[in-house]
Amino acid sequence: MAMSEFAHNQGEVPAGGGRRVVLAIETSCDDTSVAAVDDRGGILALETASQTESHQPYGGVVPELASRNHTVLLPGLVERVLAQPGCGVGDLAAVAATAGPGLASSLLVGNTMAKAMALGAAVPFVAVNHMEGHLLSPFVGRDVPFPFLGLVVSGGHTLLVEARGVGDYELVGRSLDDAAGEAFDKTGKMLGLPYPGGPEIEKCAKGGDPTAFAFPRAMLESGDGNFSFSGLKTSVRVLIQRLDPAAREQWLPDVCASFQEAVVEVLSAKTLEAARRRGLRDVAVSGGVACNGRLRETLRAEIEGRFGARLHLVEPRLATDNAAMIGHVAHWRLASGRVSSLEEDVDPNLPLEGIGRLRGGRAAGR
Ligand code: KG4
Ligand code: ZN
Repeated sequence: MAMSEFAHNQGEVPAGGGRRVVLAIETSCDDTSVAAVDDRGGILALETASQTESHQPYGGVVPELASRNHTVLLPGLVERVLAQPGCGVGDLAAVAATAGPGLASSLLVGNTMAKAMALGAAVPFVAVNHMEGHLLSPFVGRDVPFPFLGLVVSGGHTLLVEARGVGDYELVGRSLDDAAGEAFDKTGKMLGLPYPGGPEIEKCAKGGDPTAFAFPRAMLESGDGNFSFSGLKTSVRVLIQRLDPAAREQWLPDVCASFQEAVVEVLSAKTLEAARRRGLRDVAVSGGVACNGRLRETLRAEIEGRFGARLHLVEPRLATDNAAMIGHVAHWRLASGRVSSLEEDVDPNLPLEGIGRLRGGRAAGR
């Protein structure tokens, strides 16, 4: 059913029984995404529009541009999801949206749309924490093996979390400065690669030698689960100043491969150490950086191979921001009767239960 028919539906849809679909909206940063998930959290429809090209000239996300793009893109994506079989307004049990952390003006667009739709369809609204979406994303559509250790590596955050149940989380560690994805993006920018730097560095690293340059592996011996990536970024900057710009083609793959190896090694070693220390035999890895092939390969060798724990890597299409992971969390909230008020505001630093306030989304130049 099309959105234009929404108004006519108000009050006409019978409650209970037939309604088992959660429609979810994600607009926390620069991806506009809408999904329909069923009552097991399985994906019925997922439509995502990337804004990468709009932000590319600025080398990062421009908040004002992101929110304007969300406004333009969102209605069409909602229409497409509602047009999928079994995803009409009459099938909806709730409408969910990311409430934070993220960019306030971007979050507002998705939230306003979701609240209006919930009101129109006379179903509950569910506000979802973006980081909880990432944390549980390796388990979309299947059972979650609590307790598990979650490594969330996105553009805005790097977190190690012990998850004991839905909403029962303990922070094991976090990045004290740049997030892992942010380090990829800033390093990519320094190297003259297009935004976002992560996939570009991975591509370029394929032809390079990961042992060519000995970049620092910060906080390996810190004894906690925290990370730091800003020193690594500085080392790359200092190195580039010494290298011959005319020979860029020759050294670029080696710099990319060595940088990538340093990030991957730290992420893998600290995850392994935390899992071992806490006796956790299930490890889940999520967030955009979880797309990285070298990270996936290293974690398989270390976590599965050496430690013998079960590794749950997020599917690459659910690694970067998407609404399916938001619908998945909303499905759990709905199942436990935890719906949100329409009065609830967005929060750029929304706390993750048990973990506290999280810094908001990225913006160009940060
Ligand atoms: O989870 P996400 O969409 O962002 C936030 O919610 O913040 O992830 C985007 C981040 C970007 O920093 C991007 O460079 C990084 O994930 N990324 C990668 C790869 N693909 C995406 N980093 C390294 N290797 C990749 N293949
Ligand atoms: Zn994200």
